[in-house]
Amino acid sequence: MTDTRDASGARTFIRGMWTDVAPAWGRNADEIDERAAPITQRMLTGAALRPSDRVLELASGPGGAGVAAAGMVGDEGVVVISDVVPEMVEIAAARAAARGATNVRTAVLDLEDIAEPDHSFDVVLCREGMMFAVDPARAAREMRRVLVPGGRASVAVWAEREENPWLGVLFDAIAEVTGVVVPPPGMPGPFALGDADFFQQLLLDAGFTDLRLERIDAPLRVASFDAWWARNLTVAGPVVGILNGLDDATRGQLQAHLRHALEPYASDQGLELPGVALLLCGRTGS
Ligand SMILES: C[S@@+](CC[C@H](N)C(=O)[O-])C[C@H]1O[C@@H](n2cnc3c(N)ncnc32)[C@H](O)[C@@H]1O
Repeated sequence: MTDTRDASGARTFIRGMWTDVAPAWGRNADEIDERAAPITQRMLTGAALRPSDRVLELASGPGGAGVAAAGMVGDEGVVVISDVVPEMVEIAAARAAARGATNVRTAVLDLEDIAEPDHSFDVVLCREGMMFAVDPARAAREMRRVLVPGGRASVAVWAEREENPWLGVLFDAIAEVTGVVVPPPGMPGPFALGDADFFQQLLLDAGFTDLRLERIDAPLRVASFDAWWARNLTVAGPVVGILNGLDDATRGQLQAHLRHALEPYASDQGLELPGVALLLCGRTGS
């Protein structure tokens, strides 16, 4: 996306989309963190967190990864939990306070233009946020810039759509039933960095070294089709507006289509929908 007007419109679109769902992300934050726990655990291990580290969490949403990191850096360390959406940051601040995390500060920050000084952090964490950057190469350079020489980054994104039926099935069904393509052409979306080679090259080009790539299973387990549908109506940022705007007939058609498409994922407990994240851990050269 090279046209500046298009890029600015895309950033406004992405911010608006996440602002709309922030209250629902707040209500579902614990459940979202529980589902993402394997990713968070690998991110924190990969970043080799230690007491007194200064940690920056980007695109934090309700701040699950940052709050987990706060427990590992001690009173001499600090975790700055940040998101471009102020409502998300408020939710993260409240969650950190409720857990008694006194070493957490919060900030409204855009990961494509991080308003923090050069070399001001030891660690950058970003869980499922970088793929919403309109210019992900710029985001990678910004991560590199704010890290000290020898700083560490753990960045997790969703793998390709085919490996993530938990959301991909919905995108496909919406396109088939309504003709609406999700995300809209030219707009970043959940699977934008799902090509591992492309993702890795972004960090290499930004100056990260010692990159280690991991694939992490993160299935979505829901009690029923209705529970999955209700979740998508409120927290699935890229489709919430579309789903809530459907007329009765189209909604019925879409649900019927989806019930069929989800049959292979039925389990004794409801539905188990596969999901795979890509995690890159690396460091900045000294
Ligand atoms: C899928 S949510 C992930 C939230 C959280 N990291 C988690 O794993 O629970 C994506 C988040 O990216 C944030 N985001 C999107 N574009 C951003 C940008 N340019 N800078 C910072 N945050 C951004 C959204 O506001 C949203 O909170």
